[in-house]
Amino acid sequence: EVYTASTTAPVNIAVIKYWGKRDPKLNLPTNSSLSVTLAQSDLRTHTTASCSPSYPPQDSLLLNGSEQDVSGPRTQACFRELRALRKQLEDANPELPKLSSLPLKIVSENNFPTAAGLASSAAGFAALVRAIANLYELPSSPTDLSRIARQGSGSACRSLFGGYVGWEQGSAADGSDSVAFQVAPASHWPQMRALILVVSAAKKGVSSTTGMQTTVATSSLFPARANETVPRRMKEMISAIENRDFEAFGKLTMMDSNSFHATCLDTYPPIFYLNDVSRAAIKVVEAINKKAGRIVAAYTFDAGPNAVVYYLEEREKEVAGLFKAVLGEKDGWQGERGERVQRDAE
Ligand code: DP6
Repeated sequence: EVYTASTTAPVNIAVIKYWGKRDPKLNLPTNSSLSVTLAQSDLRTHTTASCSPSYPPQDSLLLNGSEQDVSGPRTQACFRELRALRKQLEDANPELPKLSSLPLKIVSENNFPTAAGLASSAAGFAALVRAIANLYELPSSPTDLSRIARQGSGSACRSLFGGYVGWEQGSAADGSDSVAFQVAPASHWPQMRALILVVSAAKKGVSSTTGMQTTVATSSLFPARANETVPRRMKEMISAIENRDFEAFGKLTMMDSNSFHATCLDTYPPIFYLNDVSRAAIKVVEAINKKAGRIVAAYTFDAGPNAVVYYLEEREKEVAGLFKAVLGEKDGWQGERGERVQRDAE
């Protein structure tokens, strides 16, 4: 007999970045963060979890057709926590099948380039955790699942909710209060759009895990960012979203991306995620905003050169149009620019 369950989880792109861990084992962050979830139907991971007494004894994970190592502490932490919750159910209801002792088989597919700086680990761990929770028929809430997914990859906790999602850093040593929460559903601000410029689909140079550890250890700008700048901006960002104030949302988004990349440059040895194409994208956004006389487009970059540009539907022509014109016409963009994809925010 084979027991099975499937789910999908969306990619999220932070507008207030998570960068720095106070506990690398539990993925407990040094600051809270906030993201916008990209459309479910669009950039997402689809995952099927199954278990069976007839499977080989080892747990397995297939991602986009290739076998992944599941022995790492992060995947193990997710498996262990979910199995423990299932075990509790089985102990309380002896008639339930003993799924917690069966080997797991996880099959995941991304519909976007893995490791392209598009937060694939976020959608990946969120989908893995929810698929197993569904398989085990756990009564866990999205908040409970965010606590588990966080241990797979920090940013994954924000992919268990839709719309505008915060991750409260928490203060408990066991991570019990370091969970995601919904700031507003996507329907609160349905005009929000996101355009993704895939500058490079190649695997990034310095992984976020290693990069943020080095930043915490060496950057002198980092403490001010984590302890002063981000806490203030979290509050401002939540009100900007509540008030559907795009100018405030856009300015905070760009300034936080710049602050994060500044601490990367201030890391020793320095970390460079932006390249010439990324910087050209920043200039295009600045030109759009200058022409409009206010902020109508906002860029943000994660641990890679790809730009995500947020704007409102009413500005589709100027923003998407200008990027298309620049990308299509300038020789300088050729070769290095990679494909250009445009996606809607959820
Ligand atoms: C720059 O969540 O990938 O995208 O917890 O080590 O897996 P780990 O890190 P990860 O870091 C994401 C960093 C970021 C900012 C963000 O998404 O908030």
